[in-house]
Amino acid sequence: MRNRHALLALFSTLGLGGVMLVTTSVLALPGGGGGGQVQIPTSLNDFFAPGTQPNTDSTAFEPVQNSNNCSYCHGNYNEVVAPFDSWVVSMMGQSARDPVWHAALAVANQDANMSGEACIRCHAPGAWLAGKSSTGDLSQFTPDDFDGINCHFCHRNVNPTLGSESAVGYPTKGQDPTPDPEVLDPLFAAGLLPSATLGNASFVIDPKDVRRGPFDDVPQNFHGGPELIYSPFHSNGSQCGTCHDVSNPIFSKLPNGEMGLNALSTAHPTMNKDDMFPEQRTYSEWLNSTFATTGVYFADGRFGGNHPTGVMKSCQDCHMPDQQGGGCVFYDEEGIGQYERPNVPQHSFSGANTWVIRAVATQMGEDAEYFGLTQQRIDDSIARNVQMLRDASDMELTQVANQLKVKITNQSGHKLPTGYPEGRRAWINVKFYSEGGTLLEQRGAYDLTTATLNEADTKVYKAKHVINQATATATHLPQGTEFHLALASEVALDNRIPPRGFTNAAFEAIGAAPVGYSYADGQYWDTTDFVIPTGAQTAVVNFYYQTSSREYMEFLRDTAADGSGITAYNLWVLHGKSAPVAMDSSQIKLGPSKPADLNGDGLVNGADLTMLLSNWGGSGIGDINGDGIVGGTDLASLLAAWGS
Ligand code: HEC
Ligand code: HEC
Ligand code: HEC
Ligand code: HEC
Ligand code: HEC
Repeated sequence: MRNRHALLALFSTLGLGGVMLVTTSVLALPGGGGGGQVQIPTSLNDFFAPGTQPNTDSTAFEPVQNSNNCSYCHGNYNEVVAPFDSWVVSMMGQSARDPVWHAALAVANQDANMSGEACIRCHAPGAWLAGKSSTGDLSQFTPDDFDGINCHFCHRNVNPTLGSESAVGYPTKGQDPTPDPEVLDPLFAAGLLPSATLGNASFVIDPKDVRRGPFDDVPQNFHGGPELIYSPFHSNGSQCGTCHDVSNPIFSKLPNGEMGLNALSTAHPTMNKDDMFPEQRTYSEWLNSTFATTGVYFADGRFGGNHPTGVMKSCQDCHMPDQQGGGCVFYDEEGIGQYERPNVPQHSFSGANTWVIRAVATQMGEDAEYFGLTQQRIDDSIARNVQMLRDASDMELTQVANQLKVKITNQSGHKLPTGYPEGRRAWINVKFYSEGGTLLEQRGAYDLTTATLNEADTKVYKAKHVINQATATATHLPQGTEFHLALASEVALDNRIPPRGFTNAAFEAIGAAPVGYSYADGQYWDTTDFVIPTGAQTAVVNFYYQTSSREYMEFLRDTAADGSGITAYNLWVLHGKSAPVAMDSSQIKLGPSKPADLNGDGLVNGADLTMLLSNWGGSGIGDINGDGIVGGTDLASLLAAWGS
C-alpha cells in the first residue's frame, strides 16, 4: 500500500509544486484506443486527496460492512420505508456495478494513467478504503466490493468541518455544530484533515464501528457492540457535498483562466476543488441557491413526502423524503411501538436515471433477486425517478403574434439538469398541428429507433466539456474533443437552467457560470421562441430529459479498449436506448394568425413597428416570415397589414 504520510511529508518539502504544461515524456497508449493518442503519464500521487485514507489494518480501521449485515433489520419489511429496499435499487446502491461507469472508468485509465483511482474512491468507497484501488481498475475487487455507496460507509461518515480545526475556511451555510475531535484530531495531526473545500470524496470515516444517524431519540440500540450516536450532519446537504462536487485534480486554473496540466507525480498544488477542472457542481449549485439559505416552500407538496412544513432546504428533503413508518423491522412489535415515526427518510435517492438500474439487474441475471433487486423494486425506483423528473420543472406556453413562447421554470435544488456532464440533456419538442390534426412541422424531433435528436432547430439544455488546446497538444487528440472525462479541460457550453437564488458572481466563483448562454441574476427559468407556421391551429409541446445520449454511448462502445464499452452499449440498446422522459407536456390553441400583430394587442400599429425595428437584423420577434432574420420582407408584411 501507498504510505500517505510519507507522501505528504514529501509534498511539504517540495512546497507542493507549481503548474507546468506537460509537453514531453508522454507514453504511447497501451491496449489500443487508436488514433495515435498519447496517455498522460499520471500516477496515483496525482489523484491524492485528503480525508480518511485506505487502511487494511483491521485493528486500526474496522472494514466497511456489506449491506447484508444491515438488511436483516433494516430491510424487507416495507418497500416504502425500509432503508435497504429503496437504497438497493438506487443509483447510489449500484454505483459500483453501473456498466456505464465501468466503461467510463476504462476510458479514464486509458486517457490518464491511474485516474481510475479517483473514480473508485467515490463510486466504490468501501472498496477504496480497503485498499482495492491501487491498480486504478477493478481487478482487485471481490464480490462484496461491488456493494456501492452503502449503509455502513454513509453511517460512519463524520462531519469534517468542525472539531479541532473550525477555522479552515469551509462553507458555512447550513452547517451543524457537532465537533468530533476523537476522529478529527488524529487526521489534523497527520495533515489529512480536508481543509480547502468539501468535495472530491474527501470523506472522513470513523475508524471504529460507530454508527451515526439523524435521530436523537432511538429508544434502544439493537446493534450489539457498535455505538450509535446522533449526527445532525446526516440531515445536512454537506454530507452529500462530500461527493456531489467533482473536480479533476490533474488540472489547475491558470492566471488567464484556462486550465493547465499540473506537474506530474505530485498532488494538486492547492487541493482546492475550485482551482481544478469543475466536472460536477451539484453541491455548490445548491449551496449558492435559495434552498441552502431560507429554503423554498412548495404549496403543492411536490417534494419531501411527509415533511412537516413543506419548506425544502437540504438535498435530503427532496432526495430522501419523509415517510410514516418504521426505521427497522421491529417497529410494530408489541411494546416497541415507539419505533414508528412520521419522518423516516426514504433511502430512494431518486434522481433522473431511468434505465441503468434495469441494465444492472440484467447483468446479474438470476442473482438479481438474491441481491434484493426484485422486479417490483426496480419498477418502483424508476417510477420515482420519473416523478422526480416531472416535479423538476414547470412549463408555460403563450402566443405573441406568430411566436410560440415556451417558458421552462427550474423547480429543482440545483441546475436543471445537473450532475454528470456526459450524455445528459433536456430539450423542447414542439409539434404544430393544422385544424384537421395534420402534423405541419416539428422542432426538436427525436427518433426513438435511431436515438437521434435534431438539435439544430430547438433548445437543448446541457453541458459540453471538451479537450482544450494544451491538453490536445499533450494527448494528440483534436482540440474540442468531447466525452473524455479525465481529459476534459474546457467548458465549451453550459446553458443548463440555474436554481432559485442564482447569481453570476457566485456561480463564477464555483466554476459553474453559464457558458455560451446568459442568465440574469435571479433568473431560474428560460424562454424559447418558436415561429408558428402558417395554418397551425394547435401546438403540442413536450420538455424531455435523457440520461445517456446515443453519441455518448457510441463513444464508450468505440473507445473502451477492454470491451466494457460494448457491454454498456448493448445494455443501452436492450433497455430502450435511454428513452426520453417527458418532464412537462402541454398544448396550446393558437389564435387567429395575425403575424404582424407583434405585441398581441389585436392591432397592427406603431407599437408593432417599433418592436420590429428595434430587433432589425435579429431573430425572433419581428421575424414574420420565419426565415430566421428580421428584415425588409417582414417590414413589408407589417406595413401591408397596417391598421388591421
Ligand atoms: C439487529 C437489528 C439491527 C441490525 C442488524 C442493524 N440495525 Fe441499525 N438499527 C436497529 C434499530 C432497531 C434501530 C432504531 C430504529 C429507530 O429508532 O427508528 C436502528 C437504528 C439505526 C440507525 C439510526 C440511528 C440514529 O440515531 O438515527 C442507523 C444509522 C443504523 N441503525 C445503521 C445500521 C447499519 C449501517 C447497519 C449494518 C451495518 C445496521 N444498522 C444493522 C436495528 C439494527
Ligand atoms: C448516501 C449515504 C447513505 C446511505 C448509502 C445510506 N444511508 Fe441511511 N441515512 C442517510 C442519511 C443522510 C440519513 C438521514 C436523512 C435525513 O435526516 O433526512 C439516513 C437515515 C438512516 C436511518 C434513520 C432513519 C430510519 O430509517 O430509521 C437508518 C436506520 C438508516 N439510515 C439506515 C441505512 C441502511 C440500513 C442503509 C443501507 C441499506 C443506509 N442507511 C444507507 C444516509 C445514507
Ligand atoms: C461516497 C460518495 C457519495 C455520497 C456521500 C453521496 N453520493 Fe449521491 N451519488 C454518488 C455517485 C458516485 C453517484 C452516481 C452513481 C451512478 O450513477 O453510477 C450518485 C448518484 C446520486 C443521485 C443520482 C441518481 C440518478 O438517478 O441519476 C442522487 C439523486 C444522489 N446521488 C443523491 C445523493 C444525496 C441526497 C446524498 C446525501 C444524502 C448523496 N447522494 C451522497 C456518490 C455519492
Ligand atoms: C427542491 C428539491 C431538490 C433539492 C433541494 C435537491 N435536489 Fe437534486 N434533484 C431534484 C430533482 C427534481 C431532480 C431531477 C431533475 C434533474 O435531473 O435535475 C434532481 C436530480 C438530481 C441528480 C441527478 C441529476 C442528473 O440529471 O443526472 C443528482 C445527482 C442530485 N439531484 C443531487 C442532489 C444533491 C447532492 C443535492 C444537495 C446538494 C440536491 N440534489 C438537492 C430536486 C432537488
Ligand atoms: C467525488 C466523487 C466522484 C468522482 C471522483 C467520480 N465520480 Fe462519477 N459520478 C459522481 C456522481 C455524484 C455522479 C452522479 C451524477 C448524476 O447522476 O448526474 C457520477 C456519475 C457518473 C457516471 C454516470 C453514470 C450513469 O449511469 O449515467 C459515470 C459514467 C461516471 N460518474 C464516471 C466516472 C469516472 C470514469 C470517474 C473517474 C475519472 C468518476 N466518475 C469520478 C461522483 C464522482
